[in-house]
Amino acid sequence: MRMVDLIEKKRDGHELTTEEINFIIKGYTEGSIPDYQVSALTMAIIFRGMSEQERADLTMAMVESGDQIDLSQINGIKVDKHSTGGVGDTTTLVLGPLVASVGVPVAKMSGRGLGHTGGTIDKLESVKGFHVELDNNKFIELVNKNKLAVIGQSGNLTPADKKLYALRDVTGTVESIPLIASSIMSKKIAAGADAIVLDVKTGAGAFMKTLEDSRELAKAMVRIGRNVGRKTMAVISDMSQPLGYAIGNALEVKEAIDTLKGEGPEDLTELCLTLGSYMVLLAEKATTLKEARVLLENAIKDGSALEKLKVFLSSQGGDASVVEDPSKLPQAQYTFELEAKQDGYVSEITANEVGTAAMLLGAGRATKDSVIDLAVGLVLRKKIGDQVKQGESLVTIYSNFEDVSEVRKKLYEHIKISASKVEQPILIHEAITE
Ligand code: URA
Ligand code: CA
Repeated sequence: MRMVDLIEKKRDGHELTTEEINFIIKGYTEGSIPDYQVSALTMAIIFRGMSEQERADLTMAMVESGDQIDLSQINGIKVDKHSTGGVGDTTTLVLGPLVASVGVPVAKMSGRGLGHTGGTIDKLESVKGFHVELDNNKFIELVNKNKLAVIGQSGNLTPADKKLYALRDVTGTVESIPLIASSIMSKKIAAGADAIVLDVKTGAGAFMKTLEDSRELAKAMVRIGRNVGRKTMAVISDMSQPLGYAIGNALEVKEAIDTLKGEGPEDLTELCLTLGSYMVLLAEKATTLKEARVLLENAIKDGSALEKLKVFLSSQGGDASVVEDPSKLPQAQYTFELEAKQDGYVSEITANEVGTAAMLLGAGRATKDSVIDLAVGLVLRKKIGDQVKQGESLVTIYSNFEDVSEVRKKLYEHIKISASKVEQPILIHEAITE
């Protein structure tokens, strides 16, 4: 087989076979096929697309390019959840304990964040003592015992995807639905998921800015899942404004605690109940979505979800007393209020820009090597559609430096107030299950 023939085949709109895709991914991972040939191929894919079979083949070729996590020693159906980006997205912190408390095993491999705020591990590390350096046996033991554990990324997972994603990033070939879908799915499958719930965000703060693109991506991933034998469902949720109120690591941990107590923001709670219901359903702990939701609502009401969070934190070395006393989480030195300059209704809180404002405070990493400040960030006091009076706070800024003028400027630019009434954005656009 010659790579140039395969590039020409795709260029001319033909379908690559399983063997051809395996040849490409294996050669690229090993280094026998150079970047320039693969970038020509990805550009051809941008214009020609990929068939369902090609997408499934590419996904599995990337899964097989490196290690795969073996979760077979964990009892039950392992359901993983993936959110496609977003700002102040606290769903993982809530969903883990929530679904684990009704018996769904959550064996989560997580990473550190790049961008607006930290990743799940960074957030959890705001709990003193908490760590994710577990060996595989301990990880599996904890999931079997508590139904929930989080481990740091280890091993050599999907090296083909790492290489390909980096190449796409510099060759103008990120924006291809088949390439994005197989990239995301390959990582979930290599991490050992039997079933997958996808939270595909849409809007300014999302990877996909329009509902149409988000729907197409969701469908593509659900079909890949089906074609490679992993039950997959997707929910398309709003990311025009940040989810919940808190954006920042310790602040989001507190928000997750509130939500597990039943006192969290309405949108975060609703999205977690929706995604959680699909996870419970896929794990076969309920037979209908409605039944699944009742289980989760009860776990919040009777305190078992919150109790699960405590057990989870302390099992991984964390100080679980933060759950009763969140003031033990890292605290910023200063707080400032961003006051509304006029009366009206909040009409816009542009998620990605507000995320950037949180990053300016130090809540996120601008580069891989930046050090994040776990204590700082933003807490929205108003969301789109809320009425506001001049002088009322729109946002509380938690900072470890006194001069936040740049942050204020950015927030004022991207939080808009309109004189006339504004509708709340739709939180959950649709679910894709076929
Ligand atoms: N996120 C991924 O993991 N892969 C892509 O290709 C795009 C976004
Ligand atoms: Ca949040």
